[in-house]
Amino acid sequence: MKGKVDALLGIVFGDEGKGKVVDYFTPRYDVVARFAGGPNAGHTIIFDGKKFVLRAIPSGIFDESKLNVIGNGCVIAPDLFMAEAQELETAGYALTERLHISRRAHLILPTHRVLDRAYEAAKGKAKVGTTGKGIGPTYSDKAARIGLRVGDIFENFAAKYEALKARHLQILSDLHFTDFDISEEEREWMAGVEYMKKFPLTDTETELNELLAQGKNILAEGAQGSLLDIDHGTYPFVSSSSTTSGGVCTGLGVPPSSIGRVYGVFKAYSTRVGSGPFPVELFDETGDRIREIGHEYGAVTGRNRRCGWIDLVALKYAIMINGVTDLVMMKSDVLDTFDTIRVCVAYEKDGIRTDTMPYDTEGWTAVCEDRSGWREPLGAVREENQFPPAFKAYVDYLERELSTPISIVSVGPDREATIIRPSAGL
Ligand code: IMP
Repeated sequence: MKGKVDALLGIVFGDEGKGKVVDYFTPRYDVVARFAGGPNAGHTIIFDGKKFVLRAIPSGIFDESKLNVIGNGCVIAPDLFMAEAQELETAGYALTERLHISRRAHLILPTHRVLDRAYEAAKGKAKVGTTGKGIGPTYSDKAARIGLRVGDIFENFAAKYEALKARHLQILSDLHFTDFDISEEEREWMAGVEYMKKFPLTDTETELNELLAQGKNILAEGAQGSLLDIDHGTYPFVSSSSTTSGGVCTGLGVPPSSIGRVYGVFKAYSTRVGSGPFPVELFDETGDRIREIGHEYGAVTGRNRRCGWIDLVALKYAIMINGVTDLVMMKSDVLDTFDTIRVCVAYEKDGIRTDTMPYDTEGWTAVCEDRSGWREPLGAVREENQFPPAFKAYVDYLERELSTPISIVSVGPDREATIIRPSAGL
């Protein structure tokens, strides 16, 4: 029997805590593959008591028996990749044979990062609030058919690099953005290119399909979130890749018929980093309290995450776009001490109310309903039958509203605090 590709996706604005679930899921799969994004992602994983922040490298890397793949839909910065990989090597993980990188993945040049800053500066107040890792400019070059791919590093690379860099420098000069010096960064970047050569840089698309034919199963590990998807997110305040389930097929080269379950990961509340519409945002002490208890500070940038109540409009939309089969609710315990928990059920603007995602989410306010809190610590709960009644009622309510089962509930940072509900059949 052929294998399947299951997708594990953050379905709101990223930072849903996928790192922890992916670690939980890894033993069930033969391969863990990243299909979109690049070092803008930051998956925090605690392994053997040590904390790692993975950016480009899939989370299956901690399990010696797994193959890890950086797919063609990803973008990769050789210098940052080298730093990330070397940290793992220093911690004792042998990576080389277990980490395959698609020759079709695109390279993030140092000048892409400068362009990222320059475009943001030029946008002024309308800036996206990017992670500054060069993501947008790299995907722009990919779409413009002038980008450099991993496979390019073996042939006449210096000339190709200089040509693209010259083009970038011209744009920067046209933008009068001249306050930068990449010489140091460039040396590290070139060292990173050499370092990458020790990894299998392959046609991962063919490899993955061969593995599927042999009955092997693949976990496609999402990055960012569905509302940051270049097509389906809150454009233009989005990232530049396809972060939704459709991106799994294009970003790995696997057919739609190979997709099995789609796990949609969300938090019991909402967060967003960077600019852009966020109707549920709380500007008061409740927002501060959620940030504080949930430690909502960026893994890559350290920025304060914007916090708000759970948003059913956004979740319904993301479930629809992704075809989510199973929901995974993270960080439920963050709301333990709240008497009342609010739930956004619709958006409102100029007297118009909608419960479907509007074209332009700017200027809409959240219409919320109150639910009673459970007011009990969930951290020690290990089985569904230990759920406090008010928490069980909340989970049931969300399932009904979202018409999708919540198969997994996480109630704390520990591995054991991940409860697989018997009804999930997992
Ligand atoms: P970029 O991906 O660096 O271009 O940033 C575009 C937008 O996506 C910004 O609002 C970022 O804050 C956001 N973003 C990018 N990666 C992540 C992530 O891994 N988690 C949350 N937000 C992200």
